[in-house]
Amino acid sequence: LTTRVGIVGGGPAGLMLSHLLARAGIESVVVEKRDKDAIHATHRAGILEAGTVRMLTEEGVDGRVLTEGHEHEGTVLRFRGHSHRIDFQELVGESVWLYPQNEVFWDLAAARERDGGDVRWSVTDTEVLDLESDTPRIRFTDADGTPVEIRCEVLVGADGSQSICRRAIPREARTDHFIEYPFAWFGILTEAPPSAPELIYANSDHGFALISQRSDTVQRMYFQCDPDEDVEAWDDERIWDELQRRVDGPDGFRLERGPIFDKTVLKFRSYVCEPLRHGNLFLVGDAGHTVPPTGAKGLNLAFCDVRVLAPALVAALRDGDDSGLAAYSATALERVWKAQNFSYWATNLMHVRRDENPFEQKRRYGEFAAVTGSVHGSAYFAESYTGWPDA
Ligand code: DHB
Repeated sequence: LTTRVGIVGGGPAGLMLSHLLARAGIESVVVEKRDKDAIHATHRAGILEAGTVRMLTEEGVDGRVLTEGHEHEGTVLRFRGHSHRIDFQELVGESVWLYPQNEVFWDLAAARERDGGDVRWSVTDTEVLDLESDTPRIRFTDADGTPVEIRCEVLVGADGSQSICRRAIPREARTDHFIEYPFAWFGILTEAPPSAPELIYANSDHGFALISQRSDTVQRMYFQCDPDEDVEAWDDERIWDELQRRVDGPDGFRLERGPIFDKTVLKFRSYVCEPLRHGNLFLVGDAGHTVPPTGAKGLNLAFCDVRVLAPALVAALRDGDDSGLAAYSATALERVWKAQNFSYWATNLMHVRRDENPFEQKRRYGEFAAVTGSVHGSAYFAESYTGWPDA
């Protein structure tokens, strides 16, 4: 089998890239190890930048984000029981949309199917070969057990944080930058009415909590926990008491409780692979970089990579102009490092370290006051959270 672009990974980044290439008349094949229903059932973050929403609606994927999603013109930063609203529209004239990432995936998978895209689900034993040659290859076993080899002109690794594509780049040809954090998130889904109209990022001396939503009847919430926390040790009442403790304040704010039907611990780290290219292999999304979830940047950053890579591939494969591909890694990394900084900063601002000394704790209070008490500090948050304009 031959194709022009072989894409490993059928998550949002790989599918969006395949979709944009198809619109420019460039053929691609996507191979993905999981099946569609399993990906759709995997809960991920739910905040989309305006640029992400525009890609879905203006590039002919689907308008469901506008009808099923919710526009949020601001968010609440709650610190030691006091709420401060950051008004995105007033500060930077932008909004974000609450629309779960698994629905973004579903819309993209449906669009690829509608447009006759070649997406292979449930493949096994995927390997990438000859990255440095003009005909890199993907080898895998199809869902029905048939061994397949795809010869392409360009390979794209969109296969997430455990990327096999990234690991196929020789150690001496890449640098892994990463840090770990001494905490994780305990995430829940509950059948309850919303506790608030917008997201609440809450910091208390007991740790961080995030009050998010999914619909009128289902809510998503998280609280900071230890990385090795055992979900089984937490029954509903203990979870609700812990979440409530982290948002308690003199305004008497109460969370709306309901039955909890999903509990997971999310470990996180900050990671960047440099460069995002090796020979004819290009990395996009989590395959090349991961951020902690605090700034809701993961999916948005993956789409930013795709916004840089898709036109570069079109220029190279349709018009023979390789300049965009040559610039891809440096261009994409510029935004990646800005988002890494914001995600790292927001994480450290809102979480509590066990070994924090009183100086560090008070410094953090000062930092919070500098953000929420100033139009300039708030605008920094608003601009970073809603997403910087493309370079
Ligand atoms: C959600 C997750 C995030 O990491 C975030 O920053 C905001 C919202 C969510 O799942 O709704």
